[in-house]
Amino acid sequence: SVKAKTSYIGHRIECFDEVDSTNNVAKRLAEEGASEGTVVIAKTQSRGRGRRGKPWISPEGGIWMSIILRPEVHPSRALLLTLVTGVAVARTLQDECGLEVGIKWPNDILIGDKKVCGILTEAHVRFNTLEYVVVGIGIDTNVDVKAFPDDLREGATSLKNELKRDIESGALIEKFLENFEDVYNSFKDGEIDEILSEWRKLSKTIGSRVEIRKQLGEIVYGEAVGINSEGALILELDDGTLRKIISGECIHH
Ligand code: BTN
Repeated sequence: SVKAKTSYIGHRIECFDEVDSTNNVAKRLAEEGASEGTVVIAKTQSRGRGRRGKPWISPEGGIWMSIILRPEVHPSRALLLTLVTGVAVARTLQDECGLEVGIKWPNDILIGDKKVCGILTEAHVRFNTLEYVVVGIGIDTNVDVKAFPDDLREGATSLKNELKRDIESGALIEKFLENFEDVYNSFKDGEIDEILSEWRKLSKTIGSRVEIRKQLGEIVYGEAVGINSEGALILELDDGTLRKIISGECIHH
């Protein structure tokens, strides 16, 4: 059982042995009126979802969870919640596991150049206002990535693979929820610059040459020179012009 020292994030936690996707369950609860801070956790997911329609392998031993948020902000701020969550995950893995972590824009938490955690933020907008947001967090904790399919194994790692031991998932979730509440409160208080500066320090993307794969097959190359106040990536293209990237798959070169 999870007992975080938070005031509202995780005040209600729904735990399941197996769901299709914790983001789907959270969405259903949010539609039924579940309040901000409601958390859904599952031991396994039969149809875990990654970004860009990719499946997310979710075996037992990992942390698969979703948080319902109802921030009163413009829909264009939803991308920032991914960065808020990334900062909270990074703090947690650094403080609790002593790991050096980095972030690949917008949402991958890396150890070295391997991914240990992914974040799937789904904003639900109605009449041009943000009704609620589901933030899904998948952390490869006590799993062995050697069992992953070929195409995913290469770029992935887990806490177990890094630390050579199992970690206490319940305690890690508690610390994460505490860190999350902290960073999310800053977000709601408008302390965006503070959050972005912590994010920039963790970022492995800024200062690198990147390739962005957009929808419809468009590919953009350039140097990532910054992020703006909405969390969008700023690329300097080879002709020197700047381009703002709101979404797309980012590959470091
Ligand atoms: C990505 O990096 O592509 C995002 C992965 C997000 C995975 C988590 S696991 C909990 C939540 N439920 C899902 O179906 N996906 C997210």
